[in-house]
Amino acid sequence: MDLTGITSITKTEKIKDELRAEIASTFENYKEQFLRETVMSDDFLDFFNKNKEPFDMLMCYYKCAIMEVETKFRVLDAEFSLQYDRNPIESIKSRIKSQTSLIKKVRDRKIPMTLESIEENINDIAGIRVICAFPKDIYMLADCLLKQDDIRLIKKKDYIENPKENGYRSLHLIVEVPVFLQNEKRNMKVEVQLRSIAMDFWASLEHKLRYKKNLSEETTAEISHELKECAEQSASLDRRMQQIRDRISDVD
Ligand code: GTP
Ligand code: MG
Repeated sequence: MDLTGITSITKTEKIKDELRAEIASTFENYKEQFLRETVMSDDFLDFFNKNKEPFDMLMCYYKCAIMEVETKFRVLDAEFSLQYDRNPIESIKSRIKSQTSLIKKVRDRKIPMTLESIEENINDIAGIRVICAFPKDIYMLADCLLKQDDIRLIKKKDYIENPKENGYRSLHLIVEVPVFLQNEKRNMKVEVQLRSIAMDFWASLEHKLRYKKNLSEETTAEISHELKECAEQSASLDRRMQQIRDRISDVD
């Protein structure tokens, strides 16, 4: 290729760069205009201000529902500790769904953007995770909770009896609990996840894999396979530890 050819290629590249920059700047202008007309519009700000207080109130009811259910588990643990000199619960973790992940769920599931429909359709705004050393305690605690006359079971998923394809194990309950306010009673939904220490250890590592975006398909497949094997090994360890504990308690 002669020098004239090189010059004309350089010119074409320059024109392409200028075009790219122009498109990017036009896009930025449209984006800004769009944001001003939607997210920053008076209508949206009105909607936001009108709903902010009821939204905060709703989140507060969910926090109260967590306190109610968490106390129920702490009471059971204290009773067992006195009666049988052992604590079935290793730890309890609670959380309220963050605003961002709530909005993402409403968007992705195409749920109407009203507080009523959020309350009706989203079951995991309030979440409690109860971690036990032994699998039998998971079912014992779930039974004790569900026997209480102010708790209503909405949904139960037993991923211990029927583990997920990836090896995930836990017992999930969606329950409704009353929250007594100044002038009314609100029944609020709470997602309860009960699992063993081993199941929790496994789930946190698997959760990390889910959100790791820069692994190759091959590596992800290899790790998933290995995680599934670990899930089976740790389930078998849970069973053996349970048997040992049963044998020890039989002697008492
Ligand atoms: P979502 O909360 O919208 O996912 O509802 P769902 O109907 O799919 O609920 P499911 O009971 O199957 O799971 C609820 C929660 O359990 C999830 O938000 C996670 O916290 C946990 N979970 C379920 N499956 C898995 C899994 O495969 N791996 C891990 N690490 N956690 C899981
Ligand atoms: Mg969830």
